[in-house]
Amino acid sequence: MLCKILFRRSCLFVLSCVAIINMSCNRRNDNRQYVIGFSQSGEADSWRKTMHEEMDRELFFHPNLKMLYKETHDSVPEQIRQVDELLQEGIDVLIICATDAHQLEPIVAKVYKRGIPVIVLDRNIASQNFTTHIGADNKQIGAIAGKYLANILGGKGNILEITGQPSSSPAMDRAKGFDSIVSQFPQLHVPLKIRGDWTAQNAQKELEKVANQLVDIDAVFAHNDVMAGAAAAILERVTHKKVPVVGVDALPGEGLGLDMVKKGWLTGSIIYPTGGKEAIRNTALLAAHQTVPRQTVLKTALIDSSNVETVEMQLDKIASQQEDIKHQQEMIHAQQKIYKSQRTYIAVLGIFVTLLLLAAILLWYSRIVNKKINRALYNKNRDISTKNEQIRKMSLEAQETHEAKINFFTKISHEFRTPLSLILTPLDEMLSNPKLTRDAKSVLLMMRKNAYRLLQLVTQLMDLRKIEFGKFQLQVSQDDIVGFAHEVLQSFDSLAKQRHITTRVASSTRSIACFFDAYVIEKILLNLLSNAFKFTPDGGDIQILLKEDREGNRILLEVEDTGQGIDEESQKQLFSFFHNPQKRQTQSNGIGLSLVRELALLHHGNVSVESRPHRGTKFSFSIPLEYHYTPQEMFLKSEETSFSDSQGNIFTMALDAGSFAETSADTHIFSGNEKRATILVVEDNDDLRNMLHRKLSESYDVVTAKDGQTAIKTLYELLPDLIVCDIVLPDMDGLEITRRCKSDVKTSYIPVVLLTARTSDQQYKEGLKNLANAYLAKPFHFDVLNETINNLLVNNALLKEHYTSLGNNPTLENVAENSNSKQNRKFVTDFISVVEKNLSDEQLNVQMICDTMHLSKVQLYRKVKALMQTNVNEYILNARILKAKNYLREGELTIAEIATKTGFATSSYFSTVFKRLTGVSPSEFNGKKVSN
Ligand code: FRU
Repeated sequence: MLCKILFRRSCLFVLSCVAIINMSCNRRNDNRQYVIGFSQSGEADSWRKTMHEEMDRELFFHPNLKMLYKETHDSVPEQIRQVDELLQEGIDVLIICATDAHQLEPIVAKVYKRGIPVIVLDRNIASQNFTTHIGADNKQIGAIAGKYLANILGGKGNILEITGQPSSSPAMDRAKGFDSIVSQFPQLHVPLKIRGDWTAQNAQKELEKVANQLVDIDAVFAHNDVMAGAAAAILERVTHKKVPVVGVDALPGEGLGLDMVKKGWLTGSIIYPTGGKEAIRNTALLAAHQTVPRQTVLKTALIDSSNVETVEMQLDKIASQQEDIKHQQEMIHAQQKIYKSQRTYIAVLGIFVTLLLLAAILLWYSRIVNKKINRALYNKNRDISTKNEQIRKMSLEAQETHEAKINFFTKISHEFRTPLSLILTPLDEMLSNPKLTRDAKSVLLMMRKNAYRLLQLVTQLMDLRKIEFGKFQLQVSQDDIVGFAHEVLQSFDSLAKQRHITTRVASSTRSIACFFDAYVIEKILLNLLSNAFKFTPDGGDIQILLKEDREGNRILLEVEDTGQGIDEESQKQLFSFFHNPQKRQTQSNGIGLSLVRELALLHHGNVSVESRPHRGTKFSFSIPLEYHYTPQEMFLKSEETSFSDSQGNIFTMALDAGSFAETSADTHIFSGNEKRATILVVEDNDDLRNMLHRKLSESYDVVTAKDGQTAIKTLYELLPDLIVCDIVLPDMDGLEITRRCKSDVKTSYIPVVLLTARTSDQQYKEGLKNLANAYLAKPFHFDVLNETINNLLVNNALLKEHYTSLGNNPTLENVAENSNSKQNRKFVTDFISVVEKNLSDEQLNVQMICDTMHLSKVQLYRKVKALMQTNVNEYILNARILKAKNYLREGELTIAEIATKTGFATSSYFSTVFKRLTGVSPSEFNGKKVSN
């Protein structure tokens, strides 16, 4: 509230400042120049000069008045033209001293009627079209002259009257006033009246003409001083006498009226004020929109020898005062100039201060507003933080839900796959029974086909969900995509054969190397091929076409069939989820093609279809030939590890299960010589565990564990030859079991086969990271598992055979070649160095090595057997004999000494063993006799 009041007051203050500045500017506007047009009849005589000077002096006091001055030489037409010019120049007031009362009337009326005030000075005009007239009473002047001369002459005598221009109003009025007095004196006459027309020259000329009549003249009245002066001189010259002469004007100055009176040339002169000062004053009133009197009568007085000096003194004083005033006015003007410039500075300063103030107020106000905004922002922030916290919690919950959903789908997938394995494996087992009747076989085949369909559906649904949840990570590696297409198509070979469908892979080049995700491309191709097989009649054609578009940086894969085709309407919705065109209803599940589209998009590609009903369909999808895949998207294939997936089977089996091949008949079965290998099966699902136990027991000794803890315990107790382990277990997962097995020197040699429904690449990679030897996705063919187990065991057996041949004790190098972990290599190094160090010690035996290496006898036996494919005692004996051979070759030691150095208690025992193992006695070794 306080802020508002303060702000309002500040605004008022600023507004006041602005108003003051504005007023100062306005005053300047009021001082706008008021233009006077001054038309003067002529300036040849001093009276009119004096009038002009008076005006100029007065104008000093009125800076807002500006005067445009024009003068004629008493020419009426010229004056008319000049007034017109003034009118056009734009005047606010006209001051006119008319030459002729009548002729000037129309132009003055024109001005007046335009609304421009007209001030008539001295001589009048013939009409009333003017604003004000300024001048002395000329009748009175004439009368004063008459009275004065009548008084001097004692009421009798002859007076010479010299008039001004008869058409000018002063001449007329002065004559009238003079006559009015003269007529009162019967003995007073005006026998001679001549026209002087206001100038000395004219008067002189006219007087010369009547010079002979001048002798009777007793006095002279001239309408102005210049004519009076001329008359006085001529009279004196002609008559040789001095008569009283009276003039008009009484101007101060050398040779002018007052001076002539003072010098006695004139008897008297009547003051006739010019009215210049009054004219300016009246103009100032008009400029201020004030009224002026219609008539300003100027005062007059007679000057003669009695008062001339006083008047002159007064006039001098007035003149000097006027000089002072003029000087002061000049000073005032100078001050005004300073004042004006200072006022400008002050105005600028005022504006600056106002702006400063305004800025300060704005600053202050903005601070207050800022504070308010900050407070509001703070509150908003707090609200936002609270909301953010809520959102964070919600998103956490959402994430948890999201995770839960993914976990749910993973679990569901697992839940589906395990029972499917349990359906498919016994089914395969039953189908391999040669005693099966034809009907029973067809029923079993139908069951297997549908189980695979169900599996295909679950797999595709899971893939779609993984894509939807952003959990499907692209895993590209460089490979030949043409070869890959061949491999995928091979899955359908038996189906194609059975249905007489011709298949082929066509490509512009034999091989095209590019980066692609084998899993994704396989899925797409399998889906499209499975689709093609569904809708292609027996005897039809199906082909995969590969086109390399280097310019477009694409590789185009087309799956073309000669099937029933798809109508245009159905083509539009073919890739949408659960699209189920009527024509394809029998075999389509509506997921496959939408999965194809999602996978193609995931692989930075796209998919399209072209089809003609009854002619065939062509599905095309493309992926980039070169693409900047992220490091996460790059997948390094491991040559050592087999990754078996049953994608192909799922698709082909779902189409027709009749072509299933008997896989185990001609495979190499691990015999493990006489001894059966021990396999630890870790699986929580009872049925699957029992099934695996039953099936594997045909070839191996099988021990089982249903959880992680039991598995680890059994692993250490039995040290099995191989572990088959499920990834999802109740207490610890299969990856952890693998990690523990492979990180412990005692168990790291044992091969691990991971078995799971979790087919995500991430899981697969984790499995490899933990050094699993194989990874099988559920549902697996038991034969595939059996084959994998067999291969791993056969490899071990072959290695063992290689290293256990006599005289070929495994060395660190050749063991290292076959050991895939640091722990294993370390074990071998330690073992060999223990043996080498203690070779001369006849006490060197299994127990001693176990004590040194902190291992149990069983652990040592199994580890040495697994890693070095030999038996510990055999190794020690071989090592002693090899060393003895070296000594014998050097030939520097006796047999007895060699026997001691290689750990044999007696020379005879050494010789017996040496001969048994090498076929020759030590003395015969190397072809030379060695002394006993
Ligand atoms: C000047 C003058 C004055 C006279 C006045 C009358 O031109 O002749 O001497 O008083 O004019 O208009």
